[in-house]
Amino acid sequence: MPDAHFQHALSQAASRVETSLKTLLPAESEGRIAQAMRYAALSGGKRLRAFLVLESAAMFDVPAAQANATAAAIECLHAYSLVHDDLPAMDNDDLRRGQPTLHIKWDDATAVLAGDALQTVAFEILAGMDAGADIRLALISSLAIASGGRGMVQGQDMDVAAETAAVPLDLTAITRLQTLKTGALIRWSAAAGALLANQDPAPLHAYANALGLAFQIRDDILDIEGDAETAGKRLRKDTEAGKATFVSLLGLEGAKSRAVELVAQANASLAPYGDRAENLRSAAQYTITRAT
Ligand code: IPE
Ligand code: IPE
Ligand code: MG
Ligand code: MG
Ligand code: MG
Repeated sequence: MPDAHFQHALSQAASRVETSLKTLLPAESEGRIAQAMRYAALSGGKRLRAFLVLESAAMFDVPAAQANATAAAIECLHAYSLVHDDLPAMDNDDLRRGQPTLHIKWDDATAVLAGDALQTVAFEILAGMDAGADIRLALISSLAIASGGRGMVQGQDMDVAAETAAVPLDLTAITRLQTLKTGALIRWSAAAGALLANQDPAPLHAYANALGLAFQIRDDILDIEGDAETAGKRLRKDTEAGKATFVSLLGLEGAKSRAVELVAQANASLAPYGDRAENLRSAAQYTITRAT
């Protein structure tokens, strides 16, 4: 079980980013899109990406205001990816974070548009943050790459294509797909602290590469073993769709031991940071034991 100290740090990160999101997102009074954006971005979630930003920033003594804005930006970007992922044209899901998905609560057009607006507001937050222009540019361009057609969006495209592929993907292809689909934003989040401090993000990239895969393996395991109510989303979808996942390729036990190896690998990458990376080590362990 992840330690109490970590659970406390994770819930602190969640409240910090939610406070920032509340002021950075357009007010409900601005209209439907603003309301939909707030619904998607403020409806819970583990806030793991925000946590990674805040922890990596804390390791480098980055000012809190910069860390908070950066954490809010990645949670907006992530919320957009989920809103579009749930649309009928993609996964056609009706439940997210224990609540009706945005297109169920409103309609498809609103979900497309609110997702678009959540994406651009992420960049607006980074551009408007109180930090040097070089640092803002580094964050903006790396987030554009991580989330775009060579990053998360490409991974999503590969995932959609895999559903109708004649031959199920093999381990190399799944690893590549997941590295893009889930890994790219996790990697950006973990590296953000180093970018904010103008330091080398290489150890954090190595950490997050392993963490992202471990996270996805847990997602695949939860799809089979998880409790839908706790997860707040529909499960058993991968099996129903006959999709190749880490579990279908490695078996349940194989996938679990691969996740343990990845956590060891992630944590070994944090050696340069010594004790300051303790919460990031706990995060890796949490990633493979989480129930949601
Ligand atoms: C869900 O992400 C989508 C994947 C990339 C597997 P999370 O499991 O981090 O979702 P929230 O933010 O906690 O709801
Ligand atoms: C979603 O992956 C990944 C992104 C939104 C980038 P999934 O489709 O596997 O996530 P869930 O299972 O719906 O949360
Ligand atoms: Mg999907
Ligand atoms: Mg989905
Ligand atoms: Mg999934």
